[in-house]
Amino acid sequence: MSDRGANVVAVARRADRLASLAQRPTVGKVIPLVGDVTNGETRQAIIDTAARVRDGEIDLLVNNAGIGGIGPFADATPDRLRQIMEVNFFAPVELTRLALPHLAHGRAAVVCNISSVLGHRAVANKSEYCASKFAIHGFSDSLRAELAPQGIQVTLVSPSTTDSEFFDSLVHTDANQTSSSIGRWTPDRVARAALAAIKTRKSEVILSAGGKALVYADRISPPIMNAILRSKG
Ligand SMILES: NC(=O)c1ccc[n+]([C@@H]2O[C@H](COP(=O)([O-])OP(=O)(O)OC[C@H]3O[C@@H](n4cnc5c(N)ncnc54)[C@H](OP(=O)(O)O)[C@@H]3O)[C@@H](O)[C@H]2O)c1
Repeated sequence: MSDRGANVVAVARRADRLASLAQRPTVGKVIPLVGDVTNGETRQAIIDTAARVRDGEIDLLVNNAGIGGIGPFADATPDRLRQIMEVNFFAPVELTRLALPHLAHGRAAVVCNISSVLGHRAVANKSEYCASKFAIHGFSDSLRAELAPQGIQVTLVSPSTTDSEFFDSLVHTDANQTSSSIGRWTPDRVARAALAAIKTRKSEVILSAGGKALVYADRISPPIMNAILRSKG
């Protein structure tokens, strides 16, 4: 986005990654902010920093930070659920709450929540992750209807498996657990698709042919999809 002239507050916990991002030549400014989105003070600092860039206005909030875990629910600790919900649900919701007054003054502002196809159709061994993505899906649908009168759009982006570092930092997960590499999108492709959805003020986009097949087959016949996924269990 900064390549296209936007001023961006970029947030992550790893300072070295943010520093190299900020050093890239861009048209707009990249303001690095090192912090954990599960921390309330960090969330306030993110919104304050973004609001300072242009007289209290924020045009776009992208809730992208996300983590996952793989494995049976019965074997998992409560901490896996807690960590996943904190990052994937409570953090984006509370960032949205803090951003709203500033978004209301933005020009055709957008809240973009990065969800997953697993926020539309749940599968085995990812119960906590699916629950977190269903939660952000439901929150997004509700908020979209609430904010429409103010001209604020809520865009839900649902990628399929992406060739990112996601699977290197799974929470409380056996090292042998992995996900299919077939048809993985690159992070760059996901980012471009998300940006296109934001620019055209889409309510929801499901990325990848495989993702669309999963979601639309489930919408047509949940019992058939339940049977297929049970057999793969
Ligand atoms: N990868 C997939 O297959 C896939 C599929 C569907 C949806 N998604 C969703 O896509 C989004 C992006 O994931 P990704 O695939 O790009 O994973 P990734 O490569 O692991 O990137 C996650 C990003 O979030 C940041 N982050 C994680 N926890 C954070 C925290 N507590 N505070 C601040 N920043 C945090 C990470 O930076 P630091 O580690 O430096 O904090 C990193 O920049 C997530 O919401 C994910 O659920 C991913």
